[in-house]
Amino acid sequence: MGKKLIIANWKMNLTVNEASLYVHKLDKLVGKLKNTEVVLAPTMLALQPLNMQVQHHHFNLAVQNFYWRDSGAYTGEVSASQLRGIVQYGIIGHSERRHIFAERSKDIRSKVQAAVRNNITPVLCIGETAQERANKETSDVIRDQLVGGLANITSVEVGQIVIAYEPVWSIGTGKFASPRDVERAVKYIRRQIEHLFGKVAAENVRVLYGGSVNLDNAMSYLQTAGVNGLLIGESSLDVYAFAGIIKKCEDMPSLPVKRGK
Ligand code: PGA
Repeated sequence: MGKKLIIANWKMNLTVNEASLYVHKLDKLVGKLKNTEVVLAPTMLALQPLNMQVQHHHFNLAVQNFYWRDSGAYTGEVSASQLRGIVQYGIIGHSERRHIFAERSKDIRSKVQAAVRNNITPVLCIGETAQERANKETSDVIRDQLVGGLANITSVEVGQIVIAYEPVWSIGTGKFASPRDVERAVKYIRRQIEHLFGKVAAENVRVLYGGSVNLDNAMSYLQTAGVNGLLIGESSLDVYAFAGIIKKCEDMPSLPVKRGK
């Protein structure tokens, strides 16, 4: 069934020192993990020092954003090729990037391709706004964002990436999606992947839920069919809450295996 994947997206929070202290504390709180892969997405500044630190622990790192060209005259940007070997994952197309920084499908698919090219697993974020939800356009938005984001990669590469379903109206709002809605959206995501890239890719792709996940509701998503893990913003800033979620995930009874005849 594979490990569950839990990603902490700290956004523009925590200094380098705070991030380092957090990693020490988290390690003490959760210990060695068997069933859960934990990924931390700190400020870009903390990636290099944390890379040394997490090697002694059992966490992986994600970058929150990067530029899609490998090098050149792009003042202020950091490329996936510069991040190669430092991070294992790259968050791409987060709604804050799409809406505050006006990232378009074109940018997003170039970043997915750049990540794959540089051995970084893309975590492609997709999801509808409140208005789109009210207009019953959720499926259309999901399909468009998948088609737009994945246009440049192969079916083998798609099978190795992560999709995070994050309804925009649920991010940082305390309004979370019902597990039923999440199940429906995740099924639809896999159906679209199957349609575009085939059955194997659809089975292999990992799909996360994100949006106001907290200690109280995390289990309901982890137990939702088709959900491989969580992308957590605000609740991940509190190391005790985040450790609590990881422990719940780690101790979750595995689903009964269906026996063949
Ligand atoms: P939230 O953020 O958990 O604070 O809603 C999730 C995200 O932005 O990935």
